[in-house]
Amino acid sequence: MAILKIAEIGNPILRQVARPLPDDKVRSEAVQILIDDMIETMREYDGAGLAAPQVRHSVQIVVYEAAANPRYPEAPSIPLTVLINPTVILLPGPPEGGWEGCLSIPEMRGIVPRARSVRVKALDRLGRPVDFTVEGFHARVLQHETDHLQGILFVDRMADLKSLTRLNEFHRFWMKPGEADPVET
Ligand code: NI
Repeated sequence: MAILKIAEIGNPILRQVARPLPDDKVRSEAVQILIDDMIETMREYDGAGLAAPQVRHSVQIVVYEAAANPRYPEAPSIPLTVLINPTVILLPGPPEGGWEGCLSIPEMRGIVPRARSVRVKALDRLGRPVDFTVEGFHARVLQHETDHLQGILFVDRMADLKSLTRLNEFHRFWMKPGEADPVET
């Protein structure tokens, strides 16, 4: 396994639409190694999610995971998930604003409106179809990651840029006491 270099905002690969992975390539050794390296890279940088374009592979693979944190028992946890060729359906309802960060826009945070619930259809890492509905934080992470496959970054989704904040100023002015720091994804 290897820790991969992360492309940062300004790198054109983050603005490309990633290509779908052919079904018969999912189980290939190269793809399985890439998935393992993405998981290792996400964990190394304390991220909650990573999309393949962020490690300079323009292909439709995302991984995400939010571990339970004993310091923030209220913060939701999400099991390790690998999605290939995901299709996301936004379910009806008013959008919810929430803080986001991104490993490709380091040390920045901003408030992003997202659909509260989404349904996703995809393949898992063994090529088996999955189809599930999630809400809240899980839905936010999923929308952020799958946006990366369309060349979209969280700053594009902000209603305005007034909450765009460097992490040090976020801690001084925006973070509520006892609140978990929004993770980078
Ligand atoms: Ni991101």
